This record gives sequence, C-alpha cells and structure tokens, in this order.
Amino acid sequence: MKKKTKLVVGLMSGTSADGIDAVLVEIKNSGVKTKLRQIAFETYPYSHSLKKYILKNSDVRTARLDDITRLNILLGEYFADAAMRIIQKAQSTFGKQNIDLIGTHGQTISHLPGKIKMFGKSIRATLQIGDPTVIAKRTGIVTVGDFRVSDVAVGGSGAPLVPYFDYIMFRSNKHNRGLLNIGGIANITVIPVCVQRTGRPKNASLNNVFAFDTGPGNMIIDNIMRRLFNKPFDKSGRVASRGRLDTALLGWMLKGKYFTQQSPKSTGREMFGDEFVEKILGKIKNISTEDIITTVTEFTAITIYDSYLKFIKNKVKLDEIIVSGGGVHNLYLMNSLKMYFHPIIVKPVENVGYLSDAKEAICFAVLANETISENPANVLNATGTSEATVLGKICLP
Ligand SMILES: Nc1ncnc2c1ncn2[C@@H]1O[C@H](COP(=O)(O)OP(=O)(O)O)[C@@H](O)[C@H]1O
Ligand SMILES: [Mg+2]
Repeated sequence: MKKKTKLVVGLMSGTSADGIDAVLVEIKNSGVKTKLRQIAFETYPYSHSLKKYILKNSDVRTARLDDITRLNILLGEYFADAAMRIIQKAQSTFGKQNIDLIGTHGQTISHLPGKIKMFGKSIRATLQIGDPTVIAKRTGIVTVGDFRVSDVAVGGSGAPLVPYFDYIMFRSNKHNRGLLNIGGIANITVIPVCVQRTGRPKNASLNNVFAFDTGPGNMIIDNIMRRLFNKPFDKSGRVASRGRLDTALLGWMLKGKYFTQQSPKSTGREMFGDEFVEKILGKIKNISTEDIITTVTEFTAITIYDSYLKFIKNKVKLDEIIVSGGGVHNLYLMNSLKMYFHPIIVKPVENVGYLSDAKEAICFAVLANETISENPANVLNATGTSEATVLGKICLP
C-alpha cells in the first residue's frame, strides 16, 4: 500500500472468451497522478474446447451448476498460469518476488443489469468466475478481483468499469474524446474538455465523464463465423468485405429495444448471444453467408454511430474517437466507423501509445492499484449508481 511504484499484473478475459490477456506494468502513484510503463503483454488463447465449454455455461439454456462451480476454480488456475507466464516472460528484469499485485477481471458468464424485485429486495446482478483466491494462492501474490460486484452492491450495474481508467489516462484539455472499446460488446467513454468561466479550456472532472455499452462488438460476427464458416472470427474483416449489405435484415436488427434504452446502460451475451443469432438465422432468406457477415458487421458499426447521435452528440461534440479491443483488427468494421463518424477522427489506441489488445488488461492492473490505494473507481454516469466506492476484493496468498 505504501509503495509509490509497484509492479502489477493485469488479467482480462472479456465476453468473447477468446483467451486471457495478461500484462505486466509498472505503476507509479495512483488516481490522476498515475504513471504507467508497460513491461510485457501476451494473450493466452483458450483452447477451442474450453472456449466452447465457457460459452455453453454462459447461456441459461445450456449452463449447468456443477460445470460453473468447477469452471470457477479451473479458470482461477488458468488465470494464475497466465500471471506466472507473463511474469516469466519479463523475468530477465523482474523475478516473481518483485511483483506487488495482481488485478483480475475474471470471466463474465452472466450479466443481469436490469433491476428486479426478488424476495423483498430490489437487485441487479453480474457474475465473473475464475476465483481471485485461487490466483492469490497459486501465485503467492496479493490479488484483487470481483470489481464489478462492488459497484452492483452500491446500486450500479457493475459495467462498464473502464471509464475510470480512460479518464485518468486519456483526458485531454484540447479534444473532446471518445474511448471506444470493441470486444465482444462495444462500449464508449466520453471525456469532454471543460471550459472554465474565463473561457479557457481545462481537463474534465470525473463527474463530466459518462459511458455506456453501445451494443454488440464482435459478438454477433464471431458467433455467425463459428456457425457458417467454422472460424472463430472474421480475420481482418475479409469476409465482410466480400459480401453485400442486406437492408431488410439490417432494418430488423436495428429495431432491438436496447438501442432506444437511455444511457447509462450495459449489456452482454444475454441480449446478443445465441438466442439473438438464432433469430437472425431463422429470418433470412436468399442471402449468401458472406452477405450475412457484411450485414452484421455494418450493423455493429451503425449501432455505435447511432449511439453517438442519440446519446452523446447533444451533450458533447466529439473531436476524436480512440478505439481499442480486438475489433480494431477488423478493417471492414474500422472503415465503416471512419466513414460514419467523418469528420470526427477515428484512430486505434496504438496512435496514442497503447496496444489495442492490452488496454483492458492494463485497466485491471490500474484498478487493482486504485483498490489498494483506497480510491473509489466506479464512474457514476457509467454504471448508474449514485455512490462512488472502492472496488474489488483483496485476496491474500
Ligand atoms: N485479426 C483479427 N481480425 C478480425 N477480428 C479480430 C482479429 N483479432 C481479434 N479479433 C476480434 O476480437 C475479438 C477479441 O477481442 P477482445 O478485445 O479480446 O474482446 P473481449 O474483451 O470480449 O475478449 C475476437 O473474438 C475477434 O472477434
Ligand atoms: Mg478477449
């Protein structure tokens, strides 16, 4: 807690369930004074069968309680392995004994942000597995995990959590910035430049920051690529660039009720997973498989742009959008976004010195440092709570 500079591992696996992103960073200070240096990064992909097993247990129609109980421990082991491997990768410089902290997101298998009344209580819920206690015991390193549940406990939806990190690392006194992450789900953080009474611009305060999930990121594209092309994703967006847009299918998909729901809002596989895809595939007639991929990729880009028009533009006119997550590698998707947002600049986070695939893992290293520093790290206008709170559970080795 008292160390000014710490070596921290960040572990992340998102709704794509493609694998564990592991990063080792040096973090100096905390809060807005945070300084970061990335030392090593790697994605450790899940095997095809483990990914299938995770996805089966992320769908209420196929999940089993005994599978989930075991997966919670099993994924803890996998996360611990990922931590050890990334530390080893950097070992020429740092041994395990020098690592101060691990921050882990876990694997979301259920996200239920809608408030419901149940047995006399009003609740929202979210579940990340890959228990942080297992990681702490296996690595011998203090581990912070279960960040989302802390926000849920104070009335929030537990997502998105990356806006705090976006604010401390990417705020600007020149540009109104959007930070867009395209994982399985896409989310955007808006950080406006504030204008002082003197008319001079200054950095936004955290209260001016807002964020929400725009809807699907790669989730629908990946799902249909698995079913129709037997591939985990559309590499570089090549399939999408071969097909044609089907306006009837696009129009039907855009009617989804999520897209008119007011922000802050968050979503997951419950809304855009197998059930949604099965509806799409049941609807289509005389469309080639390529056309389906083109149409769902365009749909993803449009829902992001449409979110800007509906929920952002009247509050903040963005100057630039900095994009991260695996979706950056889908060139069709990136080109569509550039076209819709023009003249707003759309650029990958690489242009400001970070790796697209590493950003969220770095975020969870930083969030763990915030927990240890006792700084609240939920953003009220992102998760919809009215209480700022310190996030996470601290697990001792
Ligand atoms: N080379 C690529 N071309 C196109 N899409 C890619 C490529 N690499 C990764 N992706 C997409 O990115 C996804 C993983 O992104 P990621 O940011 O890890 O999401 P999550 O946070 O949901 O795990 C993959 O499932 C795939 O859809
Ligand atoms: Mg991933």
